[in-house]
Amino acid sequence: MYNRINKNCKVEEWINALTLEEKISLCTGKNSWQTQNIDRLGIPSVTVSDGTNGVRFQKGSKSEKKLSFAEAIKGSFDNEEAIASTYPATCFPTGSAVACSWNKELMKKIGGSIAGECRVLGIDVILGPGINTRRHPLTARNYEYYSEDPCLAGDMAAAMINGIQREGIGTSIKHFACHNSDSYRTRVDVNVNERALREIYLACFERAIKKSDPTTVMSAYNKVNGEEASGNSRLVRDILKKEWGYQGTVMCDWGAIKDVAAATKGGIDLQMPHCEGSKKQLFKDINEGKVTLEELDERVRRVLQLVEWCMEHKKEAGEINFEHHHELAVEAAAESAVLLKNEGNILPISKDKVKRIAVIGRLAKEPVYQGSGCAVVNPVKVDIPFECIKEECGTADDQQIEVCYAEGYDKNGNTGRTLLESAEKAAVNADIVLLFVGNSMPKESDDYNRKTICIEEGHQKLMEAISAVNAALVVVAASGEVIEMPWENKTKAILEMWFGGEGMGKACADILFGRSNPSGRLSATMPVKLSDTPGYLGFTGRKFDIDYSEGIYVGYRYYDKKELEPLYPFGYGLSYTEFRYNYMKLSKNIISNPEDLDHEKLTVTVEIENTGERDGMETVQLYIAEENPSMPRPVRELKGFEKVFIKAKEKQLVTFELEMRDFAYYHDGANMFVVDADRFEIEIGASSREIRLTEKVEILETNCPDIPLRPDCGFTELFENPAHIEAFDQFLVENGLLRREEADDAAHERMLNSFWAIGSYLDMNSQGEISWDMLKEFLANLNKSEGCRKS
Ligand code: BGC
Repeated sequence: MYNRINKNCKVEEWINALTLEEKISLCTGKNSWQTQNIDRLGIPSVTVSDGTNGVRFQKGSKSEKKLSFAEAIKGSFDNEEAIASTYPATCFPTGSAVACSWNKELMKKIGGSIAGECRVLGIDVILGPGINTRRHPLTARNYEYYSEDPCLAGDMAAAMINGIQREGIGTSIKHFACHNSDSYRTRVDVNVNERALREIYLACFERAIKKSDPTTVMSAYNKVNGEEASGNSRLVRDILKKEWGYQGTVMCDWGAIKDVAAATKGGIDLQMPHCEGSKKQLFKDINEGKVTLEELDERVRRVLQLVEWCMEHKKEAGEINFEHHHELAVEAAAESAVLLKNEGNILPISKDKVKRIAVIGRLAKEPVYQGSGCAVVNPVKVDIPFECIKEECGTADDQQIEVCYAEGYDKNGNTGRTLLESAEKAAVNADIVLLFVGNSMPKESDDYNRKTICIEEGHQKLMEAISAVNAALVVVAASGEVIEMPWENKTKAILEMWFGGEGMGKACADILFGRSNPSGRLSATMPVKLSDTPGYLGFTGRKFDIDYSEGIYVGYRYYDKKELEPLYPFGYGLSYTEFRYNYMKLSKNIISNPEDLDHEKLTVTVEIENTGERDGMETVQLYIAEENPSMPRPVRELKGFEKVFIKAKEKQLVTFELEMRDFAYYHDGANMFVVDADRFEIEIGASSREIRLTEKVEILETNCPDIPLRPDCGFTELFENPAHIEAFDQFLVENGLLRREEADDAAHERMLNSFWAIGSYLDMNSQGEISWDMLKEFLANLNKSEGCRKS
C-alpha cells in the first residue's frame, strides 16, 4: 500500500494559493494526456498514457498545440497507423491471456517492466490495468480484462499495480464499473441487481484496490442502473470513496462526462482529456451555485494529491533493456498459454519420433498477438511462430526435422480450392501437423461487440480438410476470449495461445517442443456454444439497456448451478507432468464468530507432489462451498490461488489464509456482507470441476444484524422468534380479537399457513379493530427487542 499523506504535503498550501480559474483548469486535462501545470506555484503536469498490456504512448503527447476541429477529427482508426504513431514498447500478453498464468509474481515483474518503460518515456501514470468482469465473450474488449471471477481478477490486478507503483509510476484501474458492452458503450445502461454488483462487478475492484491502492481509478462510459458511471454518487462517492475508504483520484474515461455538475457531485475528480467547454461550464455552474466551492476544492485536492504522489515517487529514468523485457514477454506468453487437449501425449513433439512437421496457416507467419483499440502497443520485436518452430528443428546445415509450410487461408481468413489443396499436400505425409487458427485482425477491438465466438469460417474448413488427411493434428489457437470449438474432436491437441503478446511465437515453439512445460489455466469458462453462456439472453436485443438477468451466476457460478457441462471449465489446463494433492490441513474446524477471522485468519495448508518426470508449475485453487445457505448461493466460489514451481518427484507445501469476507455473501436487507452460521466446505482443486481435497469448517454465529419486521411481512418471518408469537398473542388479546385460550397452536398454525402479509390479514379479519398504524407501532416495539429476524 502506498501512503498518500506525506510529511511535506503541499496540497493545502497550493489550494490556498490557487485562483478560481487555476482550480477549474486543474479539473480537466491540458491536452489529451497531461494535466494542467501551474508554473507560478511549481505544480507540474502529470503525464498519463495507455495501456493495459504495455505502453501505448502517442508521439506528440506532450504537445501544447491546440488542434482545430478539422484537425482533431482527422484522427485515424486504422490499427497500423495507430501503431506507427506510438513509441515502441514491449507488448506483453493481453489481460485475458496473462490472467491464465494465475501467477502474481509474474504480474509484478511485468508491472515493473512497464513502469521502467514509462519512466524513460516520461509517463507518470499508466492507464491500466483493466479489470472488468468478463461477463460475456461477445464483449470484444474482454481481451483487455482478466477474468470472469473477482478473486482471480482482483488479485492479479493488485499484483500488477503493486509491480508498477513500487517503481514510482502511478496506475489507473479501469473501467469502474460494469463496462461490459463495446457497442454503444457511451450510452448503454446496465441493469444489475445489488448482490451481483457487490459480489461480482464491484468485488474485483474492491479486492484489487484494498490490496494495492492504485493512484487513480478510471470510471466507465456506461450508465449503471440509470445513472452515469462517470458521476455516479452511489458508486463513486458512497461505495468507492466512503465505504472502501479510497483516497486516490477518480478520473473519467476519455470524453465520458456529459454533465459537469453531476459528475462533480458524483465524485469525479479529474476530467480527461482537455475540454475547454467543460471548464466554461464548470465556471458557470459555480457562479450559479450548482457546484459549491467546497465541491470544487475536493476535486482539486484529489488532483493535486496525484501530482504530489508522482513528484514524491519519481525515480531516475534509467535505460530500457528491451532484450530483457522481451524475454519476460516470452516467459509471460508461455505461462499464459493453456494446453486444453493432449491426446496420447502427442505433445511435446519428440525429436526422436517426429521427422517431418507441417506448419499450416497464415497466422504462423503473421500472428495476431494483441487486440486493437486503445490498448494497442507498437512492439519492439515480434517472434514469428513459424521461424521459432524452424529454429527448434535444426539449422540449415543440420536439419533434424523437415518443416514444410502452407498458407491455408488468405489474410481475411478465407480459404479456397488452391489453398486447401496445397495445405492437404503439406499435411498428408507429415508426422505431425501444426495448424494455426484464430481470427484475422481487427476482429477484437474496443469499438463494438463481436457477432460470434467462432474462429474464421475458412480456418474451420481448412481444419476439416486437414483432419481428413492426417489425424496427428495439433491446433494452435490465438484469440482474445474463449472460443467455440465444434471441431474439438478432430484434433489430437489444442494449445490456446490467446493474444500472447510479442513473445507469443517463441513461447509457442517452447511449449510445442517441451522447452516450457505448459502451466496456464483458464481464466474464463470455455463454453460448448455461445448460447450456453450465462449472459446470452440478456446480452443483445435491447440496444441501450442491458439486463444482467443472470445476477450473481456469472461464469462458472452459472455452469455449476445449472449443472451444465462446459467444454473446458474455469481453472482448467494441462501440463506435461502430473501433480498429486497429498493432504490438506485447516488451522481450526470451528469458528465461533465470523469476525474472529479478521483477527486470526483460517490457515489452510496443502501438500502438492510432482509425481511426473518433468519439472513444472501447478496452480492450486481454493474454493468455498456453503452447506445450507440462507440465501441462494453459487455451488462454489474461488477464494484463493497459488502457483508453485515443483521439481519432478518433489513436494511442496502451499498455504492460504482465509478471512471473514471469504465466507460472506451480500445481504440486500442488511446492506452488508454477511456470513451465515453454517458449515462450509473448503475445497482444493486443480480446476473448478476437479476438486481433489476437501475439509469442513463450522461457523457458529452469524454476523447478520437484526432485520426489522415490516407490516408487509408474513407470519413466517414474524413467528421465526418464539418471543414474537407470545407478543402477537398478547396484541390480539388486548385488542379483543381473541380470548387468551383461543391463541393456541392450532391458531398459530392457521396463521402460518396463510399467505397474507400480516397487515392485510388484520385489515381483512379484525373488523377495523386493528389499524395499520396500530400494527406499525406494535412492530416498532418488537423491532427494538432482542433477536429480530436475521434473514
Ligand atoms: C478507453 C480507455 C483509454 C482512454 C485513453 C478510452 O476510450 O476506454 O481505456 O484509457 O480511451 O485512450
